[in-house]
Amino acid sequence: MSLKQGEFVGALDCGTTSSRFIIFDQYANIVAQHQQEFPQYYDHPGWHDHDADELTKVCDDCIEGGVKELAAQGYAKESIKVIGITNQRETTVAWSRSTGKPLCKAIVWDDSRTKHTVAIFEHKLRDVGIETPSGEIKKGEEGIDALRELTGLPLSTYFSAIKLRWMIDNYPNVKEAHEADDLLLGTVESWLVYTLTGGVKNGLHVTDVTNASRTLLMNLHTLEWAPQLLKFFDLRPSILPKIVSSSEIYGSLASGSLKGVKIAGLVGDQQGALVGNKCLKEGEAKCTYGTGAFLLFTTGADVVKSKNGLIGTVAYQASPNSKPVYALEGSISVAGSAIKWLRDSMGLIQSAGEVNDLAAKEKDSGGVYFVTAFSGLLAPYWDPGAGGLLIGLSSYTNPSHIARATLEANAFQTRAIIESMRLDSGVDLKHLKVDGGMTNGDLVMKILADLGGFDVVRPEMRESTALGSALLAGSAINLYGWDISKPETLEYVNTKGSTTFEPKMDEALREKMWRGWQKAITRSIGWEE
Ligand code: G3P
Repeated sequence: MSLKQGEFVGALDCGTTSSRFIIFDQYANIVAQHQQEFPQYYDHPGWHDHDADELTKVCDDCIEGGVKELAAQGYAKESIKVIGITNQRETTVAWSRSTGKPLCKAIVWDDSRTKHTVAIFEHKLRDVGIETPSGEIKKGEEGIDALRELTGLPLSTYFSAIKLRWMIDNYPNVKEAHEADDLLLGTVESWLVYTLTGGVKNGLHVTDVTNASRTLLMNLHTLEWAPQLLKFFDLRPSILPKIVSSSEIYGSLASGSLKGVKIAGLVGDQQGALVGNKCLKEGEAKCTYGTGAFLLFTTGADVVKSKNGLIGTVAYQASPNSKPVYALEGSISVAGSAIKWLRDSMGLIQSAGEVNDLAAKEKDSGGVYFVTAFSGLLAPYWDPGAGGLLIGLSSYTNPSHIARATLEANAFQTRAIIESMRLDSGVDLKHLKVDGGMTNGDLVMKILADLGGFDVVRPEMRESTALGSALLAGSAINLYGWDISKPETLEYVNTKGSTTFEPKMDEALREKMWRGWQKAITRSIGWEE
């Protein structure tokens, strides 16, 4: 049977627990897809590693699986005109320039082994200080916030420079490679582009601005690596990839069924979801509930420096010559992973979806609050020493209360971020676009609307991360007339509609529960010294 020729775009989405390759048509219909999980390594408390070779292998397999599925739909692989790559951010890969092989396991974004490294650099900021772009030395009491002006980020276990510093200080082969100028650093998209374009032979060493903005090494204003940060963390400039825009032709796949197909979009997964939700203009926001939850609010051409615990980040850069669009972000490290914990560690449910049925057996959490600080707390609290906490337990408490408290934790953390966004930007969000695996359950959505006090808008087609990556890649070659810098060219994309969940809870009860959460948070913060 001869296969038809179509005109499609592929998106390779390498997340925290699985990778997928999704093939879209011009309306964002999914023509074919393939998804595969990969191993997670938790070798010590607080540690979370990935094997970088396994990431490449699983991505190769997803591409092949997607192409096979495309053929089953009657289309030739040549129908895929271009691909984009999107990825779990901050996860840090260190590999050898001379062999092209990883030097150690990749440290995943939610790993918290580097608390001590953060403390060392916090002291260094206070005692030695850091050079500002104008050449003065800035010391002081800002503590973990002293790098915010330059990078948009607080000092935290979350970001890549801290993870890389830990690797150099703890793995002798990484240290040697650094000293011998044989070390290359990358986040996951950087590693994938390197390996998929030929590895040690001709592999490109690039990173896109959105991922670079999560390393603690990039000047958020100039989009260049900041020499004073390299000096501060004692890193050689030669380890760094070239920073590129989120939408341009970088290179081509070097092998496999799609050999020769151009890679033309690179974007961190949460920024990908922002683009996929078409939150391209100032004031638009989305929250993705995956392993963690990430609320991004587009702030336009200006960097907004958060005074309330949010991150300043690049949302996207539409082409090498375009000005970047920025966003404020609230990052929650534990969302879907708390449900996985109920399933795998506590045995309360057999499958993730069951959490909704279990939680629905009770009308409230019976006074239980669950601060899911499994690896400290990120935004807006930024405490690596915060302790995971179940509080308000009594002999009345049953598994359904705990399941409900897990879903409520999500909603409270989202509200905390929205409150910070309001303080930083003056915008009071009345509705929030959501996506990610956790949003499949209606109860989660209702709890979010009730405890948040805003409308929750859940689109029908929720592969927003992959769609964002596809839109960026398509735009780079002007496929279908898409142009990410002209939102009107995307109007007809993904118009399948959405479901809105409105808050139904009585205002007084909502505020009482919010006060309960705030009390629980104060007990969790500072748990570990
Ligand atoms: O910053 C971490 C984030 O990019 C991870 O996303 O969807 O894999 O939980 P996800």
